[in-house]
Amino acid sequence: MAKEPRSSRRERPPRPAAGGLKPRRAGPAPAPGDDPLPAPLRAGITPIHDALLGWFTRVGRDLPWRRGIDPYRTWISEVMLQQTQVDRVVDFFRRFMERFPTVERLAEAPEADVLRAWEGLGYYRRARQLHAAAKRIVADHEGRLPDTAPELRELPGIGRYTAGAIASIAFGRPEPIVEANSRRVLARLVAHAAPLDGTAGDGPIWEIATALLPSRSAGQWNQALMDLGATICTPRSPLCSRCPLAPYCLALVTGQTASIPGSTARREVIDLEETAVVVRRGAKVLVVRRGAGEWWEGLWDFPRLPAKEILAPLGCGRRRVVGRCSYTVTHHRVEVTVAVCEASRQGPRCDGAAWIDWEALGTLAMTAPGRRIAALAERGEGESGRGGARSSRPRRG
Ligand code: ADE
Repeated sequence: MAKEPRSSRRERPPRPAAGGLKPRRAGPAPAPGDDPLPAPLRAGITPIHDALLGWFTRVGRDLPWRRGIDPYRTWISEVMLQQTQVDRVVDFFRRFMERFPTVERLAEAPEADVLRAWEGLGYYRRARQLHAAAKRIVADHEGRLPDTAPELRELPGIGRYTAGAIASIAFGRPEPIVEANSRRVLARLVAHAAPLDGTAGDGPIWEIATALLPSRSAGQWNQALMDLGATICTPRSPLCSRCPLAPYCLALVTGQTASIPGSTARREVIDLEETAVVVRRGAKVLVVRRGAGEWWEGLWDFPRLPAKEILAPLGCGRRRVVGRCSYTVTHHRVEVTVAVCEASRQGPRCDGAAWIDWEALGTLAMTAPGRRIAALAERGEGESGRGGARSSRPRRG
């Protein structure tokens, strides 16, 4: 882990006086110029920095992108971490780095290769934007990532959080960050009780993150906030007895750790049903590329039909159901019936379709449900002649 110089001053933390604190409820934002930090935290800011940075030096997580800070590696890891948990990212990150060790190698790769390396991480728009940004970095910045947050934000796929993370971690700039884990830590620390919805609700938290930022070691500080949220200041049952910020935490002292952060209304889940059709012609299989504006745009998949639609439009013969699977995407939960059929002589009529060898499926950048559908079809084919439909309950994806 990269170590940055930091203040070695150790002071006794002033304990916030519980009696004098009022829980912060949703209400008017502080007027411009108002200090977003409650007075006890402002008074204890140096000990707060020391406590969290000291904790991070002792127990910060050993993650591959933290070994020898390099802006390219920081950028790739932060984009992967935008919507995916740390544990899942670790292996993807290692493989991606082997495949694209430099920004130049990423920029010159065909987009299909980048999507293939991204397979399993989901949210493929991130991979496309990463690729576009790599081309811009090579073309306009001599292959070096810009080192300020405003310049970083001009690159595709880099928003306020990612720019702050790269600028602080890779370049030591005093930039704040707010993401799921640090948002919770900060909300509890200042007892910010208003619901946080990740967008408008985050405004006050950004102000708090900015006000709390140490002038040095911002990268360490930001990573420490994320680690604390991931391991100690968890959404449910936080381990306050082990928290280095417990002496300063206003949610703890006012008994609000269970209710902060406030919950937001969840979007209603929509249930859908569809049939995926694995159309075979000898050793070949029909695949379709997901079009612009569709989920998984640009990735390969099997043709899908709404559940009740008959297969005639695909021009295939009798179908055999080989199983079922389900997946979730955005706020939709989709149940898929998987059918296999032989192409009829007229062949299928399907936009964006291609026939490829079954054996070559593994080389395509394919949707996650597409992979599971292929596995079900393969198993079903192996069992053909032994009759009927089988069902499976794969993981939700
Ligand atoms: N989540 C997002 N970025 C992270 C980082 N750099 N370390 C740990 N968790 C993170």
